[in-house]
Amino acid sequence: MSAHKPIKKAVFPVAGLGTRFLPATKAIPKEMLPIIDRPLIQYAVDEAREAGIEQLIFVTGRGKTAIVEHFDMAFELETTMKDRAKTLEVLEPTRIQPGNLVAVRQQVPLGLGHAIWCARAIVGDEPFAIFLPDELMIGKPGCMKQMVEAYNEVGGNLISVLEVPEEEVSSYGVIDPGARNGSLTEVRGLVEKPKREDAPSNLIISGRYILQPEVMRVLEGQQKGAGGEIQLTDAMARMIGTQPFHAVTFAGRRYDCGSKVGFVEATLALALEREDMADDVRAIMRKLLG
Ligand code: UTP
Repeated sequence: MSAHKPIKKAVFPVAGLGTRFLPATKAIPKEMLPIIDRPLIQYAVDEAREAGIEQLIFVTGRGKTAIVEHFDMAFELETTMKDRAKTLEVLEPTRIQPGNLVAVRQQVPLGLGHAIWCARAIVGDEPFAIFLPDELMIGKPGCMKQMVEAYNEVGGNLISVLEVPEEEVSSYGVIDPGARNGSLTEVRGLVEKPKREDAPSNLIISGRYILQPEVMRVLEGQQKGAGGEIQLTDAMARMIGTQPFHAVTFAGRRYDCGSKVGFVEATLALALEREDMADDVRAIMRKLLG
């Protein structure tokens, strides 16, 4: 038993415009783009459930209803499949307990921090997880499960981090690292999209968070930051010193599926791990590479 309140809720901010994938994402949410046969959002939800999270809170926007539908019961589809004696097992990951999926709207995409703040009434006074579904985290156990295990030890706030080459830091939120203890690193500061020469390290925040509910009050008065957006990183930075704050180095792989190259990389990597297709895909790749 941990002394810390369990993490039962997760927020999935999915209200972004996905401009890097246009025109694909004009009418289809980025989070519904599939890696093989599962949409990105499904990988994130699977990771959440593996970590013991029960309530899923989607922060959606216009044109994002397909995400909610994906986790709803599809009566016609299921009846037709049953009539044709097809097994429904493949739909199992899309089943969420009634009442455990809540969607709130972010009316204008003012930034990630603002998206999280839109979920404040549902999060209430409990610590909660955040998943950015376009960052695909592959590991055993999954990234959030590793984070929950760390949280049970140290409590407070945790973010998942990974090392990147120095020339890439200015695209990400970066931590100022303190003392290290295994995969846990104390966080002394955070900065969003720093210039390379100003970056306090090459450890970047990688799309998974466990935060205390106080972050909502900090976001309440938050001004716009980098890129004219209300940044979650800035709000978290203001909490350092008032509450424990740690980074967890994820033992696993991360694919940035918000970028086209990262998306292709994830597709190839996961295809090569699938028993039902690895041999065929390897043969195709050999052929393509000449
Ligand atoms: P990104 O910047 O990666 O996503 O935001 P985007 O804005 O959809 O994509 P591009 O850059 O235009 O291609 C990270 C996460 O935060 C969410 C996004 O949906 C994504 O999951 N987000 C971002 C919001 O929910 N609201 C916002 O105002 C901004």
